Amino acid sequence: MSPALTTSEDAPRVEATDGAPAVRLSHVHKSFGRPGAATAVLDDISLDVAPGEFVTLLGASGCGKSTLLNLVAGLDKPTAGTIEVPGARPALMFQEHALFPWLTAGKNIELALRLAGVPRAERRAEAERLLELVRLGGAFGKRVHELSGGMRQRVALARSLAQGSNVLLMDEPFAALDAITRDVLHDEITRIWAERKLAVLFVTHNVREAVRLAQRVVLLSSRPGRVAREWRIDLPQPRRIESAGVADLSIEITEELRGEIRRHGQH
Ligand SMILES: Nc1ncnc2c1ncn2[C@@H]1O[C@H](COP(=O)(O)OP(=O)(O)O)[C@@H](O)[C@H]1O
Ligand SMILES: [Mg+2]
Repeated sequence: MSPALTTSEDAPRVEATDGAPAVRLSHVHKSFGRPGAATAVLDDISLDVAPGEFVTLLGASGCGKSTLLNLVAGLDKPTAGTIEVPGARPALMFQEHALFPWLTAGKNIELALRLAGVPRAERRAEAERLLELVRLGGAFGKRVHELSGGMRQRVALARSLAQGSNVLLMDEPFAALDAITRDVLHDEITRIWAERKLAVLFVTHNVREAVRLAQRVVLLSSRPGRVAREWRIDLPQPRRIESAGVADLSIEITEELRGEIRRHGQH
């Protein structure tokens, strides 16, 4: 095993100074369908994300990643178990930007600020600041159709940050982007995560992306989704996705992921 990689058995748990996690899932189960004919999607998931920690949740398609993230976002309720998010309601960002096309980039962000209770007089300046943060200063008046895919995801990120939460949930947010744009956005999210001290729970089926970004990679099994294994990633940030360190760990994690997929007869 490479030195930058430790498994959950030998890695110390990341704890907040006051001990309270930003997100805590305890024995979470989720089934869909009628009682008696229900399908278990998530089975006994227990997972903490510490304040300021970057965790990627990795698994094959259909293993329940989005289901889990929606539960943490409060969009759905677990069938059993508990989910605690002590701070403000977490922000959720998707693969599709979900911006309102009839509003400008700036107005999309101002709307989120309004919903977060930011006074009207402060919204314009704060929206400008958030656009600067995602390196889109000057794009305030641009409409969604005038922006590239990468720029739209930057606006979507700024809008998520406008919600003022210290927990950011990201559901394959860069999966539809070309590799170069994705690479640049990896640098941006790493920078913003560190600057804003966010707790990030980032879902992906891309092993290299998971290793590039995270302090901890959590692998979910399929049918039902369970925590199969986790790795602490101690490579220094910012990392490069093509670096030998990221590649070596990715090979090791891919082997496990393949094992999971084989065990459950998918693909
Ligand atoms: N609202 C729902 N009703 C019924 N089944 C669902 C619902 N949402 C998700 N599922 C099922 O749960 C499983 C996991 O889905 P999902 O969480 O979207 O996976 P992932 O994001 O890992 O690709 C899939 O088999 C999917 O069909
Ligand atoms: Mg999904």
